[in-house]
Amino acid sequence: MGLYPVDVIGDNVVPRLREAFSGLPSGIRELVFLHFDYTGRPEAPLEAGKLYRAALTVAWDRAMGGDGSRALHAAVAVELVHNASLLHDDLIDGDRVRRGREPVWVQRGPGAGVLAGDALFFLAVQELNAAGFPLNTYGVAELTAAVQRMVEGEWADTQVPQDVGAYMSMCDGKTGALIGAACVLGGLTAGVTDHSLEQVRAFGLHVGAAFQITDDLLDLWGDPERTGKPHRGDLVHGRTSYPLLAALGAGHGASAVLRSLLVPGAASRAGAADRCAELIEEAGGRAAAEHQATHHLEQALKVLKEVCPDGPGKDVLTTIAHRAVQRSA
Ligand code: IPE
Ligand code: MG
Ligand code: MG
Repeated sequence: MGLYPVDVIGDNVVPRLREAFSGLPSGIRELVFLHFDYTGRPEAPLEAGKLYRAALTVAWDRAMGGDGSRALHAAVAVELVHNASLLHDDLIDGDRVRRGREPVWVQRGPGAGVLAGDALFFLAVQELNAAGFPLNTYGVAELTAAVQRMVEGEWADTQVPQDVGAYMSMCDGKTGALIGAACVLGGLTAGVTDHSLEQVRAFGLHVGAAFQITDDLLDLWGDPERTGKPHRGDLVHGRTSYPLLAALGAGHGASAVLRSLLVPGAASRAGAADRCAELIEEAGGRAAAEHQATHHLEQALKVLKEVCPDGPGKDVLTTIAHRAVQRSA
């Protein structure tokens, strides 16, 4: 294990993901392979994304004294849940590009997207069940509870939160719950059983908030070549985001103009999304979002300082936390 598991984690997680797929029935397995852009050949590459959550699991395990072996199963389970959520999310959001490719629901129809996601959710539980104590008991309870909070957050997102308070609680579910669980599972595999697990979770929730607000910023001002997602998809599809809500709530002259442009479908007219992005920036929404993401990063680092023993593991977690806000994709 190198010093920066976020860079080397794939070397360990990807082979275990390939093994996990062998537990799927053949028809569904083919859809799952399509999602991961994987041919099914033993050594073939696999498009598994950033493996950000897996890195957190392994890093927390290491930082709290684990040897990484059980954490690998937890990391795989977390990534399976994450990918299940993406299969469903693109269908819910009507997005036609993910990781620079068409999602399964576009390639094979909505039913394929739903069912491949279902298979991955339960494959994650199977991975934990097969991994022994404590993952087959506390681990399953942790991950399944996180999925319920994530589903609640996804639902809240479809109901379009109307202010930053409602947004943050949606965000804790949609993004924070799984990132929090990724951290807690690493603590569990390291043998942590006391109240410090709640601080480990708090770290994850703050990292999750920083991560999601950065995701919203990338939707508006990121390079779609690097994000692999549609440019300004949130605006075009009428979805909410932290920069948008902060801009609307700013009481700036640009806030009112922005509101007048946000009639359903307007942002999809040529040029309207670009104008909205300008107005969001003018009203201070971009700066507010950057400030809020930094605030959550700082809070995460504060909790980390309190709960994590000094050592290389803590340094790795610090690096991973910073990456929530310093990324282009
Ligand atoms: C996705 O949220 C969250 C889950 C899949 C649970 P978003 O819809 O905001 O994320 P992207 O932009 O599609 O990745
Ligand atoms: Mg989405
Ligand atoms: Mg979504």
